[in-house]
Amino acid sequence: MGKNFTIFGDPVEHSISPKMHTFAIEGLKLDAVYTKTLLQEACKLRDEFINNFDGANVTVPHKEAAYQMCDEVRGIAKEIKAVNTLINENGNMIGYNTDAPGFLKSIKSFGKINNVLILGAGGTAKALAVIFQQNNIDITILNRSKNRLDFFTNLGIKTFSWDDFELASYDLVVNTTSAGLQDEQLPVNKDTMNAIFEKSKFAVDVIYNKKTPFLKLATKLGIPNKDGADMLLYQGVLAFDLFYDHTFEVNKITKYMKQSF
Ligand SMILES: NC(=O)c1ccc[n+]([C@@H]2O[C@H](COP(=O)([O-])OP(=O)(O)OC[C@H]3O[C@@H](n4cnc5c(N)ncnc54)[C@H](OP(=O)(O)O)[C@@H]3O)[C@@H](O)[C@H]2O)c1
Repeated sequence: MGKNFTIFGDPVEHSISPKMHTFAIEGLKLDAVYTKTLLQEACKLRDEFINNFDGANVTVPHKEAAYQMCDEVRGIAKEIKAVNTLINENGNMIGYNTDAPGFLKSIKSFGKINNVLILGAGGTAKALAVIFQQNNIDITILNRSKNRLDFFTNLGIKTFSWDDFELASYDLVVNTTSAGLQDEQLPVNKDTMNAIFEKSKFAVDVIYNKKTPFLKLATKLGIPNKDGADMLLYQGVLAFDLFYDHTFEVNKITKYMKQSF
């Protein structure tokens, strides 16, 4: 019998996950479909999933609610406390997080990274901070407000808000804020952003499909940079690998998914 996969989100219309997974399904000649499911009420996620799907991805704003509903959470998702990938294992909802390892894979091309400045303190910042910490990468968080910093200070991570930021040198600066997504804003004021870039070797924006003001400024200042497309690709590759329990070569999955970009 064919397999059923979906992505749960609200909104979900913009998601390119169905396209990515469908390219892999077709490339590998599998009997499966991957759809989009608009889910407004998080409380319905578990029943919807268990009754209809073999595997799923979860996007904004349900990653934390999905984590709470899992029968079992595996791997780094336990520390991040958010899941983006679900597996239906004999009627049990098993949760994983592939955003964090997907990001790590996406920055391999920069070579060894020893310390990172993360702009923002939301869900993506948490996922990155946990995986950087597990890989012995030194982390600094800079967020607009003091809200949301407790998660990071509890992990022993240096945190700053715009009021008290002290600049240092960084191998990598990552924009995880939504500044630049639907506007033309930088994640911090222009003087601070210039100063940060002067002290940074590489830059990544997790936003994809758009040259954000953050990326434009990095390019102008000669800082090698990339957007979030590779992160998106690799979180999808790792999710697909879990959907099929590591049956296929990761390089092949990657090759097919890449064709959807
Ligand atoms: N490439 C991928 O695969 C991928 C995966 C996941 C997410 N993303 C992208 O990552 C971004 C963040 O998602 P998320 O779920 O982590 O968001 P989130 O949990 O809502 O956190 C948003 C963060 O952005 C800050 N912020 C919002 N607007 C800002 C502004 N104008 N200036 C400065 N800071 C601002 C917030 O600061 P306060 O705390 O002060 O409010 C908060 O720290 C989105 O653009 C999303 O599309 C990409």
